[in-house]
Amino acid sequence: MTYDFNITFDDNLLTGNRTIDAQHKELIERIRNFVVACQNGDSKVKAIKMLDYLDEYTDFHFKEEEALQEKAGYPERDRHHEKHEEFKKTIQELHEYLRDSEGPTEQFSELVQKNVVDWLFGHIKTFDRSVAEFIFIRENPDRI
Ligand SMILES: [Fe+2]
Repeated sequence: MTYDFNITFDDNLLTGNRTIDAQHKELIERIRNFVVACQNGDSKVKAIKMLDYLDEYTDFHFKEEEALQEKAGYPERDRHHEKHEEFKKTIQELHEYLRDSEGPTEQFSELVQKNVVDWLFGHIKTFDRSVAEFIFIRENPDRI
């Protein structure tokens, strides 16, 4: 079975916060590169390298997003932080899975689709959108 991964940033994923949206574009790009490396049957080393790039940017982005929340006094930060930790744990688990296997398999791709792609898209449309809205209202009190 081949998966029709549609891992591109489109308007459905916009939150309205420019910083967050720009970082999501980069994050999704790195996810796509990782998935492509897995699908092409590239070497395990290449897949791990792409996962490392993804991991690196995930850390950067989550820190930035959490700093924005802190600065704005966003009330749901703890719950949001927990979600970010959940995703970081997933990346860690994928890393271990890859390391201990012969390379990316079909089952692995399913895991990536569910726990990385679907998870992130869902997170952006709910958790991140709510952050962006809160920041917008904070910064534009007269526009509502
Ligand atoms: Fe987030």
